[in-house]
Amino acid sequence: MEIVIVESPAKGAELVADAICRLVGTKPEAVLGLATGSTPEPVYQELAERRRRGEVDFSSIRGFPLDEYLGLDPGHPASYHAVIRDQVVLPLGLSDHQVAGLDGMADDSEAACADYESQIRQAGGVDLQLLGIGSDGHIGFNEPGSSLGSRTRIKTLTAQTRRDNARFFGGDEEAVPRHCLTQGVGTISEARHLVLMAWGAGKAEALAACAEGPVTAMVPATALQLHRHATVVVDRPAAKRLRLREYYESVYESKPAWQGI
Ligand code: F6R
Repeated sequence: MEIVIVESPAKGAELVADAICRLVGTKPEAVLGLATGSTPEPVYQELAERRRRGEVDFSSIRGFPLDEYLGLDPGHPASYHAVIRDQVVLPLGLSDHQVAGLDGMADDSEAACADYESQIRQAGGVDLQLLGIGSDGHIGFNEPGSSLGSRTRIKTLTAQTRRDNARFFGGDEEAVPRHCLTQGVGTISEARHLVLMAWGAGKAEALAACAEGPVTAMVPATALQLHRHATVVVDRPAAKRLRLREYYESVYESKPAWQGI
């Protein structure tokens, strides 16, 4: 696992956007795994800006969001369908068919999850998966206790996650759905490159557990330790609990810039 400590989320977003643009430059039909929430927003903004400047063409990429709330109308502004449309599909000039999505309103959720897995497989798998981390150590919506081999399925959100996400529902915790559909930890781990980002002191504890704690289903983000190409991009406040912080900084400082992440 490579840990890159950056000055600011904006700097981190540039680095991650560089990796995505390099990938899309060599593989125009690249498959991106899309996170939602606050963390990836600066990356999507940076990508939109580069597209506006004509530096990158996303017209052949495919995208697969990580998760969706169960039973939330896709027209609801906090649904991940709406968030991905507003932050990715429209700003990157994608057409709807380029981005799949988990159907939180499906009559048969299990079938929808199985179908999503086969869509990802048929697309050739995810090349680069963007990830945020929950304050309880979740990735996707794989809450503590999720099997590290899990596949796309229904999960129940923890009280902590519903509190954290109430800000997307006008501050009303009760309005946050209790259930969701999420790619499993095993599904996520099949992506060829995992890029987890964390900004702010509120993520420091979860990030330290993810990067330096024992691998455990109690912190699903620790699955990154088992991945052969996992990059963690983190600002200083989120990095403050890392024991080997100075080491990570010195490793990255002496890395040739052309290598990227
Ligand atoms: C979102 C997702 C979640 C978030 C995590 C952090 O698709 O899968 O794992 O990445 O809850 O959320 P933010 O970025 O809002 O702090």
